[in-house]
This record gives sequence, C-alpha cells and structure tokens, in this order.
Amino acid sequence: MRETFEETGIVAGDALLSLDSRASIPVAAFADTAHWPKNLFVVPEYAFGLFVSDTTVRLSDEHVEVAWLPFREAHERLTWDSNKVALWELEQRLTSGTAQSPVRTALGKRATMTRNVGDNRDISDAIFVENGPVDVDQLNSLYGLVGWDRANRRTAMETAQMLDDSRYYVSAHRSDLSLIGFARVCGDPYVAQVLDVITHPEWRRRGIATECMRRVVGHLRQSRYVTVTLTDGTGLDFYGRFDFKIFKDVARVWAPSR
Ligand SMILES: CC(C)(COP(=O)(O)OP(=O)(O)OC[C@H]1O[C@@H](n2cnc3c(N)ncnc32)[C@H](O)[C@@H]1OP(=O)(O)O)[C@@H](O)C(=O)NCCC(=O)NCCS
Repeated sequence: MRETFEETGIVAGDALLSLDSRASIPVAAFADTAHWPKNLFVVPEYAFGLFVSDTTVRLSDEHVEVAWLPFREAHERLTWDSNKVALWELEQRLTSGTAQSPVRTALGKRATMTRNVGDNRDISDAIFVENGPVDVDQLNSLYGLVGWDRANRRTAMETAQMLDDSRYYVSAHRSDLSLIGFARVCGDPYVAQVLDVITHPEWRRRGIATECMRRVVGHLRQSRYVTVTLTDGTGLDFYGRFDFKIFKDVARVWAPSR
C-alpha cells in the first residue's frame, strides 16, 4: 500500500488484490546494495492488482510515463516474464468471475471485485465490487439522480464515513469504472437494515439491482443478524424475490416537529 501511494498517489485501501505470482530478483539487478547482507542473493518480488475508480495517477519521480491499457497490449509491453505472469494471473482472476482481496477494513469487511461473466442478462460488462473503494462524488450524484438528495445535503466526507460505517456495501461499475449501481447494509451484529438500492437511470431493467441484492443476500446469509429490515419505496415486488415479506403497520418513523 505504501509503495502504491508513493509511486502513483493512489490510496490502495481495501482494493489491493494480492496475487499468487512470485519471483526472485538477483541482487545484481539493484544499484546501491553496499549495505545489504552479504548472504542475500535474491530479493523476493510480490505482485498485486489494484481496483481504482479514479484513474488519475500522480507518478513519483522514479517514473516518467503511465498508460491505461487493455490486457493484451499491457502484456506485450512488459519486459520481465515475472510481470507478464502476474498480469496474466490478474486477468484470469477477473475474467473467471472472482478476485478476492485479503485486505480487510477495520470493520472486518472483505473487499472483493468481480467482473460479471454473463450469467445475468446483459450486465456482462459490469464490474461488481463488494466493500471496495467507491468514488463518493459519483455516489452522491447517484443519490441526487434518484431524488434522495434534493437539498444537496450529502458531503464527500460524510458519504465516505457512511461507507466506512456500513456493515456491507456493493457497487456496480461500468468498464470505465463509472458508478452505475449501489446497495448497502447498515446496523450492528444483531440488527441490520438494507438501504440505498440504486441503479443509475440509464442502466435500469438490466439486472443491476438484482445482482446487487443477490450479493446483499449473500452477506446477510453469512452474518448472524437477528432482524433484517428494509423500507420498500418501489411499489414493485422486487424485494419479495429476495425473501423480504411485508409487515404492515409496525414501522414508525421518527419525525420530531422541531
Ligand atoms: C428500483 C431499482 C433499484 C431497480 O433497479 P434495476 O437495476 O432497474 O432493477 P433490475 O433490472 O435488477 O430489475 C429487477 C426487477 O425489478 C422490477 N422492476 C424494476 N424496475 C421496474 C419498472 N420500472 N417497472 C416494473 N418493474 C420494474 C422488475 O420486476 C425487474 O425484474 P425483471 O425485469 O427481471 O422482471 C431502480 O429502479 C432505482 O434505482 N430506483 C430508484 C431508487 C429506488 O427506488 N430504490 C429502491 C428503494 S427501496
């Protein structure tokens, strides 16, 4: 994470994906080894993938150029075999359906990113990220688009805090990493609420919310909540598909007069 930040200016957070690819680099390849132990002959090389929603890169002065490339072109441009193997592994993990990061947040949320592989109508080009980095400005815009932030009440800082305080969230992205869907669960170990199920208006009726809810339910099943609720404003039986049943006349909304 430190290296990622120093060399690219990107804060890796939860989105660092540890790859299995490993290599050894002979010390002879490094300059300035005078103070290294005399019995050190090779340096281990580890490889990581990183999910980014903001593609702005601030290069350190160790580097002169950066480019975002499709897999094949990046693979061809690489010089060292170990880098090629690591990139190939990353591509395989993404296209085979799951890529799981071992890095956890303080809350113990596990970040995962998955490119959908076509099991769900025409969302095969969507990338679903669970508990990963979300561009909070885009998320706030999404709330605005569905009319949930008419007063422009949400701030980047509070939305970042909201993500951190959520027990689980899933975001859907296009291949250019723009945000097209979202859902989250907030609560404590016993009581949870499903909130903020949103699909960008241009991406509706393609199964984005269904896929987000499928993952939300996956989280609910893995957890030990006593009660899980949601408030349904859709007027559709969408949530009925995920085993949410209507409980009439029990909800009270706290609405102080002043
Ligand atoms: C509700 C919402 C999240 C659905 O997102 P979506 O990605 O379009 O949903 P999906 O494509 O996964 O569709 C799920 C199902 O919902 C139903 N549905 C969704 N939009 C519908 C519409 N406009 N009319 C009728 N049924 C609809 C359908 O049953 C659909 O399944 P089907 O097309 O396979 O029959 C989206 O319309 C939205 O963001 N609305 C504004 C925010 C909101 O109200 N969120 C829910 C708060 S409780």
